[in-house]
Amino acid sequence: MMLFETCAHMQQCSAEWELAGESVALVPTMGALHEGHMALVEKAKDVARHVVVSIFVNPLQFGLNEDLDAYPRMLERDQAMCLKAGVDVIFAPSVGEMYPNGFSTSLHIADITESLCGASRPGHFDGAATVVYLLMQQVMPHCCLFGEKDWQQLAVMRRMVADLMIPVELIGVPTIRESDGLALSSRNHYLSEAEREKAPVLYKTLCVTRDAMASGETPAHALEEGKALLEKAGFTVDYFIYADGVTLKPLHHPQPNGRLFVAAKLGTTRLIDNLAA
Ligand code: PAF
Repeated sequence: MMLFETCAHMQQCSAEWELAGESVALVPTMGALHEGHMALVEKAKDVARHVVVSIFVNPLQFGLNEDLDAYPRMLERDQAMCLKAGVDVIFAPSVGEMYPNGFSTSLHIADITESLCGASRPGHFDGAATVVYLLMQQVMPHCCLFGEKDWQQLAVMRRMVADLMIPVELIGVPTIRESDGLALSSRNHYLSEAEREKAPVLYKTLCVTRDAMASGETPAHALEEGKALLEKAGFTVDYFIYADGVTLKPLHHPQPNGRLFVAAKLGTTRLIDNLAA
């Protein structure tokens, strides 16, 4: 496995693979890897000859009051996990390498970035889209993999790839969960022991709400009951919405493309999850 810290090295390797006609899959991450990321790597190995995992804590996607400095960084441990999983290259550039002095470009993906997490994290998805575009420029992948836990991020990337006609196949990989249902996330590290015990209520509430809708309750009523369950368990709910899985527009009646989306805080830790319903 190789570790590249510069864009020049990454580009040179991509050019060699391109010349040899070999396919490449990119798994973009911010490190602090867990089994959810490893599921992306496993899928990447199925679909491409080479797998590149990028590890870059992207300042552009953190708001002023967010956890950029506190975000977990554990490159050595991440490297060991990637080596064991059969990753070909880790691309771990510095902030200066990705955003040299004078960097002033930002991609803005309208509409789809404004609802759900975009409403309380303005600029977040533009920052994520900008860095993913830049990473794609270095790695030149044939496909790029994202976890479905961050469903809105995946929808934003699909919009960007379609609008900018980027010749990359995007692959969404189903959410990996702990045995109690909690979706794996690097942010789970922040939960205290007591919060960790309560955290699975988020997924349980999604399931209860989906089942209530399947048995005939309106989305509005089922969501209201679900929100009450979350608040009773100690969550502060940011949003709990039933929306179209592609456009992310709210739905008032159950639809085949419909999904439940939730974001809620336990203490200072913001958790998100989603489920087809
Ligand atoms: O999902 C993430 O970890 C990040 O948003 C991504 C896609 C690596 C861009 O920084």
